[in-house]
Amino acid sequence: MDAYKIDGGFALRGSVEISGSKNASLPCLFASLLTPEPVRIRRLPVLRDTNTALSLLKTLGKEAFKGGDVVCLEEKNFSRAVFREITAPYDLVKQMRASILSAGPMLARWGKARVSLPGGCAIGLRPIDIHLDGFKAMGAKISVHGGDLELTAPKTGLKAARYRLHFESVGATENLMMAAAFCPGVSVLERAAREPEITDLASMLQNMGAMIEGAGTSRIVIRGNKNLRGTDHAVIADRIETGTFVLFAASAPGSSLEITGCVPEHNRALLDACRKAGVSVETSVQAIRVSTPKGFRPRPLSIKTKVYPGFPTDIQPLWTAFMSRARGRTTVQESIFENRFLHVAELNRMGADIAVRGDRALIRGAGTLTGAKVMAGDLRAGAGLIAAALAAGGQSVISRIYHVDRGYENLEGKLSALGARIKRFVEVRYQRVA
Ligand code: UD1
Repeated sequence: MDAYKIDGGFALRGSVEISGSKNASLPCLFASLLTPEPVRIRRLPVLRDTNTALSLLKTLGKEAFKGGDVVCLEEKNFSRAVFREITAPYDLVKQMRASILSAGPMLARWGKARVSLPGGCAIGLRPIDIHLDGFKAMGAKISVHGGDLELTAPKTGLKAARYRLHFESVGATENLMMAAAFCPGVSVLERAAREPEITDLASMLQNMGAMIEGAGTSRIVIRGNKNLRGTDHAVIADRIETGTFVLFAASAPGSSLEITGCVPEHNRALLDACRKAGVSVETSVQAIRVSTPKGFRPRPLSIKTKVYPGFPTDIQPLWTAFMSRARGRTTVQESIFENRFLHVAELNRMGADIAVRGDRALIRGAGTLTGAKVMAGDLRAGAGLIAAALAAGGQSVISRIYHVDRGYENLEGKLSALGARIKRFVEVRYQRVA
């Protein structure tokens, strides 16, 4: 398995260009299932998760043609009868929980969706009850056979509905919005998620022929259309990659980093928190400049993760790593996912002093972190460990970086160009001696 070797203590200097958003690309890729016409997606990041989504789309009848960061999805000779026999397979669904986003478009267009049930997940239970309740409100029947979820629409097709989510789930909002985009009539989603990825998907669906109002607010009104057409869509910049580079620079003292091709407004909660912690942050229309003096240690600043526009849960592990060197005590409260402190034990191996009590991490800032051998437990936990390794004295080895490959495009290339000492290598796997 691949691992990173990082020599810490080097400042990041220069400029980094942000890739297209992983979390926006995935629903946009699955939205192609709503039409037989070609769909072109631009600014698609090359990641394990986007590759998994393309493999899944292939099993669902789409041929993908890729060139650079553009993919064109085409559908040939695919009939309702063929489609209704297909299941989104477990070996792909288990690699990426967002595979459930194929259910809404399949159910709406073909009247049936079979998706292997996503299992447990490292950062919590992650149920899909809201997705399913929403489909039921649109008339779907749901059953489980041999670990596969089977969703069936009424003979006349899904019907437009008014549905109030019991929590602002990003995935459920996307799934229901895609299904509603295909249903003639007016659907209303209340208590919808407001993340920029929702607004991006809405603009793609509009270009395909649905009418959508209110995306980005908690009430989304969708007038569906059974004849959605192909489109050409460029996904938004990745706000989580943007936030990651903000905190890489903030964590490595003496850094001066320009982050380009991003939308600073999408990271407002993080940038405000960084300024309060003493980081110099300047923004322009599509760029952020982050700098810290040599020997910088942040002022302690407690945060609580919230739905957008609050502090993002995906940035929490990086903030925890950043605060582990603060000049005092802080609390990081995780309110979105249970069990999202997989990075804490690993940070403590690097000299951090963090205790987890329920949904809070209680941090006593340590003057220095020291390089250590640590393990990435999930995608963003891995990013948090990289931030700590950049700040630490000495060498760190981060194993299981396949998690990091799920969501960051060319991470070591981008970091190396900024002066970080980071190398990918294949770790020796020890085997039991007979
Ligand atoms: C998306 C993002 C992920 C981010 C998360 C929260 C993608 C591909 N992933 O994940 O990076 O961390 O939003 O910002 O976009 N929940 C339920 N029932 C449901 C659905 C969700 O209880 O039916 C709960 C989850 O267990 C979790 C919370 O709601 O505790 C948030 O989940 P959700 O917003 O759905 O996250 P995802 O869409 O899975």
